Amino acid sequence: MSHLVPTLPIMRQSAKAAYRCTECGHATARWMGFCPQCRATGTVSATIDTPAVAGSPVRLAEALAEEVRRIPVGMREVDRVLGGGLVPGTVVLVGGEPGVGKSTLMLQAAASIVADADVLVVTTEESLPQVALRARRLGIDAENLLVLADTDVECIAGAAEMRRPAVMVIDSIQMVAAGDVGGSAGSPAQLRESADRLIGVSKRLGIATFLVGHVTKDGILAGPKQLEHAVDVVLSFDGDAERGLRLLRSLKNRHGSTHQIGLFEMTDDGLVEVNDPGALLVDEVTLSAPGTILFPAVHGRRPLLVEIQALVARSTTPQPRRSVKGLEAARVHQVLAVLERHAGLSLHQCDVYVSVVGGLQVRDPAVDLPVALAVASSLEETPLGGAAAWGEVDLTGQIRAVPHDDRRLAEVHRLGVSLSIHSGNEGLDGVAGALAATGLGRRSRSRVGPVPAAV
Ligand code: TYD
Ligand code: MG
Repeated sequence: MSHLVPTLPIMRQSAKAAYRCTECGHATARWMGFCPQCRATGTVSATIDTPAVAGSPVRLAEALAEEVRRIPVGMREVDRVLGGGLVPGTVVLVGGEPGVGKSTLMLQAAASIVADADVLVVTTEESLPQVALRARRLGIDAENLLVLADTDVECIAGAAEMRRPAVMVIDSIQMVAAGDVGGSAGSPAQLRESADRLIGVSKRLGIATFLVGHVTKDGILAGPKQLEHAVDVVLSFDGDAERGLRLLRSLKNRHGSTHQIGLFEMTDDGLVEVNDPGALLVDEVTLSAPGTILFPAVHGRRPLLVEIQALVARSTTPQPRRSVKGLEAARVHQVLAVLERHAGLSLHQCDVYVSVVGGLQVRDPAVDLPVALAVASSLEETPLGGAAAWGEVDLTGQIRAVPHDDRRLAEVHRLGVSLSIHSGNEGLDGVAGALAATGLGRRSRSRVGPVPAAV
């Protein structure tokens, strides 16, 4: 019997079709006497869509000559982060904590896009009336804006196929479900499958697509993390809920630099773009307190003055606490070790808290020196009087030069900061020298006791 078992029904869809039925169009990888689909006989014949065509190399010069057309979003801060607009077929993952304003940003962006085709917003979490309410609040009535409230990936793909929008927003990808995959929406398998299909549709139809994803409190694109490799651009949206400041940054960009940031303020009328952040992230009142210092961070070509705060308190536990917010914990731990070893500060019996004011994430390595100074200032209860600092601190306690010295200097001058401590200062001898320049580092040993000798 076994020789009669037909192999036809298990023919894989993905096989490259070399033969096609002239009656119903069904494709097969090999010639057959009858069509397994419509059962017509003698209708299967060779086609030209052989694998060789798909794999043909092209000349780089030709590819270079082809100009990349970008669709501007029309919001300066968003276009800046994207590298000048959306490249058709690009898939952009937008991550952020719940409530940060992703849906607001996406709706405003969708409404400001002027394209020669529609813009489709797919809402998987909110109902149509909810989206309409938000649009009314934001004063949005864009003509070319289409809204679809659906969670089924096939329906979404079908709508994209039918309307062929220039730009599509999926808010959020975690609520999209693929009916033929087990598990509930948002599970790793569902997420992968839904994203795969939507990415496929976007690439095939040349639709620039935003996939919105929620991240966990610690800023990790928990579920959507697994999608990062599959998308072209990864953006994160974060900020300080209390002050209304929001920051859009790119973590990956196949079509531009990853150093750009976009700044917004959340107001009652939606997100307002901030073109000159100035001292927006600085709290004049806290600057006079010990443990605070200014840091001109640079993102791309853009300086952004932020405030770094540290609190050092005698610990009541055998394992002192180290808490870091808005900075890389490993960097801060290294700075603490350098302070202990090369500047004689005794921190091993102290709890140390370090944070960036404004809820922002700083990844500029030049933050080492301001962290060191803020920690020493808190330990010695000596205010730094609104000084600014920047520089990378290495393991030997030396301060290394960082890029954009002139930009940082220009920004702190512009904003009226009179004292700057950085590697460009003449005669500055390492981190211990920087402490001495601000009147710190002298009382540390006597206050907390000497560093215990190594056993
Ligand atoms: P939302 O865009 O729904 O956040 P996400 O999609 O990231 O979960 O916005 C959340 C918050 O923004 C909400 O608490 C209300 C506030 N908001 C404003 O302050 N002003 C506005 O104009 C809008 C639309 C929202
Ligand atoms: Mg939302």
